[in-house]
Amino acid sequence: MTENILSQDVKTDVQAPAPILDNLFAETVTEVEHYTDHLFRFRITRPASFRFRSGEFVMIGLPESATGEKSVFRAYSIASPSWDETLEFFSIKVPGGPLTEHLQNIVAGDTILMRKKSTGTLVLDALLPGKRLWMISTGTGFAPFASLVRDPEAYEKFETLIATHTCRYVDELRYSQNTVAATLDDPLVGEFAANRLQLITSTTRDDHPLTGRITTLMQDGSLYRHLGIDGLDPEHDRVMICGSMAMLKDVRLLVEAAGFVEGANNKPGSFVVERAFVG
Ligand code: A2P
Repeated sequence: MTENILSQDVKTDVQAPAPILDNLFAETVTEVEHYTDHLFRFRITRPASFRFRSGEFVMIGLPESATGEKSVFRAYSIASPSWDETLEFFSIKVPGGPLTEHLQNIVAGDTILMRKKSTGTLVLDALLPGKRLWMISTGTGFAPFASLVRDPEAYEKFETLIATHTCRYVDELRYSQNTVAATLDDPLVGEFAANRLQLITSTTRDDHPLTGRITTLMQDGSLYRHLGIDGLDPEHDRVMICGSMAMLKDVRLLVEAAGFVEGANNKPGSFVVERAFVG
């Protein structure tokens, strides 16, 4: 399994600066759920003063006392929506990974360090108004979309939300499937999401109703046939992309070829890509 650019746990050229306590929150783990040998989610308490926009990421780490080593920080998309009382994260477990090797062992009551400032490009503000919001993800790249599909603002801005999640194996899809099912059932967001939120899942190395990389499904049109719609339309569709570096590059090429223009916080466009470590 390769790492998405968010929640990755490999050495990168961009190293987090040494933690400065003034810049850090120390929060408590409230919940942990493991899906596979490679994937888990957890929740932590939310500092009263912490504000973020759904889709953003923060840097998180573990205290030195928990690992016996200097704290290592990694970028994690916040997977819970901005109105939620606790903060959720969806993480990969990298064997020997400097952070996730320890992080995968957390239990309720443990301490997580979190930098005070969130940021990111997978935010509604970076997109021009449109009718249909596509959130295209692979692996842990679904995390920022778990935040957005639970945010009423996304339904105020878009008529329809389509999230896609592609993984190698069926059991890696459980987080997105559970999140979307719970969203449709949610007393607050369920009403907005009913008949307007769709999750399309596919696998590449397992049997599943829809199989194949998302790039293949877009290129051969089977994604659109599956939904009973025509292809992407840059006038009304807006696209967010989150996954591994290779996936980001390939999906970007496809949407650019379809006439989409990349947006940013200061210049909204018709698609956005997570740029946590890019450029
Ligand atoms: P595949 O099984 O064909 O490699 P990973 O864990 O490696 O990030 O992969 C998660 C999912 O993303 C897998 O289903 C994988 O398919 C798919 N994937 C990997 N690279 C790309 C890419 N360049 N474009 C689209 N999908 C990709």
